[in-house]
Amino acid sequence: MTASNKNSWAPDTIVVAAGRPPHETDQPVNPPIVLSSTFYSLGESGAGEKVYGRFTNPTWDPLEATIAQLEDSYLPALAYASGMAAVAAGLSLLPAGGTIVIPRHAYNGSLGLVAELEKTLGLTVRRVELEDTEATLAAFDGADMAWLESPTNPMLEVADLPELLKAARAMGVLTIVDNTFSTPLLQRPLKLGADVVVHSATKYMGGHSDVVLGAVVTRNPELHARLHAMRTLHGAIPGPFEAWLTLRGIRTMSLRLEKAEANAQDLAARLSGHPAISRVRYPGLPGDPGHARAAAQMDGFGSILCIEVEAGAAAADAMLAKLRLWTPATSLGGVESLAERRRRHAGEPESVPENLVRLSVGIENVEDLYRDLDEALGRS
Ligand SMILES: Cc1ncc(COP(=O)(O)O)c(C=O)c1O
Repeated sequence: MTASNKNSWAPDTIVVAAGRPPHETDQPVNPPIVLSSTFYSLGESGAGEKVYGRFTNPTWDPLEATIAQLEDSYLPALAYASGMAAVAAGLSLLPAGGTIVIPRHAYNGSLGLVAELEKTLGLTVRRVELEDTEATLAAFDGADMAWLESPTNPMLEVADLPELLKAARAMGVLTIVDNTFSTPLLQRPLKLGADVVVHSATKYMGGHSDVVLGAVVTRNPELHARLHAMRTLHGAIPGPFEAWLTLRGIRTMSLRLEKAEANAQDLAARLSGHPAISRVRYPGLPGDPGHARAAAQMDGFGSILCIEVEAGAAAADAMLAKLRLWTPATSLGGVESLAERRRRHAGEPESVPENLVRLSVGIENVEDLYRDLDEALGRS
């Protein structure tokens, strides 16, 4: 049992205080890791609540309670083995031969899985420019599901989530929002009317690039029951240690994000004037196409920004090879700053510029971060 379900707490309190054991003598301050694949359950099948480690594990409970509270749901989140397992769980809510609306730009794993299901399950896929609200609303007509990501990975386009979610609900379109980039600290899609939220907790929640884990959250009891049953049958469950590590990471998420976002805002402004860079994408820049929307619907602009290296993809690769502080690596949301040219992945949409480098800004000293980029750009 966990201590709290106090939905009146502010998000930066929830990250610290949710999912702790009750305030009772001799209770530990932190929930323990339970390393057991099975549980004592005598008698009829189903006797006891736990039974077997693929059905549940007590180490998941405080993590699932905390993520649910952050996303403002009274139903526990569901933890998965990875963000992609959470994405796959969300997509499993599509009816056979159904129609899905997806953004042209989004995490390439999600786009790749939808393309695979298009071939194997006969889905109809409508690909839209998500920042174009009118076109997206037109695509909703007669669709079963809308897959939304905002800001998008890696183009950082911002969708009008309040408008899209309201319209989808009125039109009977099931909505799933991948909230990995924003985290529930900056954006809470369920409050805006989304049916389901998915996360790669590998990123900001874990926060230290040492764990792979995913989560799904919904307030809808019927969807929750279906997802729970399918998780048990598919078996894409997290290990207890991964669940424990992720909750430990969440404890500092608001502090980490605050510092990383301040660094990102500073770097975006400085890099905008850099002679070796032709474009900076960051919703926190007043001139960014997504700025007004992001300011209206988010509690911050996040810590991912993208630069386009003026001299092209080869120069971008040369720059990456010269970095000494930033690590050239995929992924994002960790304490350490990472940089990656996204088109190096075969699965990345061709409309993502070849010279685009995604920067996941960490919590180091911002002067050191800028100097490292500046030196690598200057000598490339
Ligand atoms: C937006 C987004 N969603 C989902 C995923 C998949 O998460 P995981 O790598 O934990 O499977 C990623 C991974 O980069 C991501 O960036």
